[in-house]
Amino acid sequence: MDWGIQNRMAQLIQPDGHCFFLAMDHGYFLGPTNKLEQPGEMVRPLMPYVDALFVTRGVLRATIDAAASKPIVLRVSGGVSIVGNALENEGITTSIREVIRLNASAVGLSVFIGSDYERQNLLNLAQLVNECEDYGIPVMAVTAVGKEMEKRDARYLSLCCRIAAELGARAVKTYWCEDFEQVTESCPVPVVIAGGPKCETLLEVVEFVYDGLQRGAIGVNLGRNVWQDAHPVAAARALHAVIHEQATPQQAYDLYLSVKNGD
Ligand code: 5RP
Repeated sequence: MDWGIQNRMAQLIQPDGHCFFLAMDHGYFLGPTNKLEQPGEMVRPLMPYVDALFVTRGVLRATIDAAASKPIVLRVSGGVSIVGNALENEGITTSIREVIRLNASAVGLSVFIGSDYERQNLLNLAQLVNECEDYGIPVMAVTAVGKEMEKRDARYLSLCCRIAAELGARAVKTYWCEDFEQVTESCPVPVVIAGGPKCETLLEVVEFVYDGLQRGAIGVNLGRNVWQDAHPVAAARALHAVIHEQATPQQAYDLYLSVKNGD
């Protein structure tokens, strides 16, 4: 691996081998998502606990303080919306010059494998890898399922992750599922856990994150389960404990309760 790409990966993956990326890119197809209406305000108190932000160029430029930020994983796919007729019909939205200008540490794009747009998505990934590798910028593929949440099982997700890695992704973000080791063990690049819709309790979140880490994930790229929580700082603090401080789910949840209660 060239020095540049190694250096960017090291900005994102901490010396303990783990990472906590905060996903805040949802507006690129959802518009003003609940609790993400003011992204700059939302993220400020969470900065001490996260390792990187997953964000579009528009929100980055307009709302994130360049002097007090974290490494950036730039969302570079899009072109569709929740009110359109095919969430899977994404293209690449951001040029490599822009990625470099914004000093991104990595880029991320979605692939909807098994959809009508599979070939287009996968060729987008391959093209992005071709361009980014020239400049030492890692590409993270996001194995997206759109509205078909029932697709999230080990057989499907391991197929998606492996294909993304084969096409050159340096990391893959995918959903947690039962038997998650089937996904990580057949994927030759690091796997990061995505979030999905908000869980009922923070305990459920730290449980699936803990399980995913035990089964080979290197960390998370979570959004709604952090900033849609009634106590986002406590949620981020608890996730940091599981990811970087070897806390068990119960220890992390107890920490969440004590931070939320102001102890
Ligand atoms: C949207 C994304 C999000 O970054 C991803 O889904 C993580 O956010 P959440 O934890 O809210 O699901 O890739 O396409």
